[in-house]
Amino acid sequence: MLIFSHRGFSARYPENTMLAFEKAFEAEADGIELDVQLTSDGSVVIIHDEKIDRATVGTGFVKDFHYDELPVISDGNHRIPLLSDYLAWAKGKELITNIEIKSSVIYYPGLEEKVASLVRQYRLDEQVTISSFNPLSLLRTREYAPHLPLGFLVEKYGFSGFDHLCSAFGFEYFHPDISIVTPDLVESFHHRGIHVNTYTVNSEEEFLKAKNAGVDAIFTDLPETMKAIADQAETD
Ligand code: G3P
Ligand code: CA
Repeated sequence: MLIFSHRGFSARYPENTMLAFEKAFEAEADGIELDVQLTSDGSVVIIHDEKIDRATVGTGFVKDFHYDELPVISDGNHRIPLLSDYLAWAKGKELITNIEIKSSVIYYPGLEEKVASLVRQYRLDEQVTISSFNPLSLLRTREYAPHLPLGFLVEKYGFSGFDHLCSAFGFEYFHPDISIVTPDLVESFHHRGIHVNTYTVNSEEEFLKAKNAGVDAIFTDLPETMKAIADQAETD
């Protein structure tokens, strides 16, 4: 089971910063998950919320700021990274990157094309997967990068049939919240050749639930702790 560091090593360092990514790599996470949105000048930036209020010392929507005008992160020491900063850093490292396209609250025209183009520019196609809660973003991504694996994110099981939906659209991954993961759910995707990666797994109880259900990967804020739990589970 692979361990992705969710927003970098976000339990201990400011989420979605280069510091959090560096620390996740040092903690030997198999992969890193990050979120992208678009600024007013069309820069692809790494930030979870549509507003900068929680992450930075400023206030307002990401979409209303020119990249150069974005305030610093709340700790006063870091900037919101560009996706290109991250990709330049990730290049050459043994690391998988899951780029989550944030497009459910605000739809950013052109974001999928820009992400696909940046991944291609840095030649990281073999090490990147794209996920989104918005299936339209996944389908758009495929238009620009047909070879990039796609993951459909779901928080709640609103209707049965996400396995059929992923199959019909040809999504390679299903990314459910840990609260809805069961062995039967995972099997219904595996049966169709679709991998299941679950979020956000931050306790031993959640880890065992994911492992016993047979998921392929977890997203965690605590890569070091989850790696230790995983190692222990191997020897038990
Ligand atoms: O990709 C899994 C997870 O990051 C999705 O939820 O809100 O943390 O972006 P969120
Ligand atoms: Ca995310």
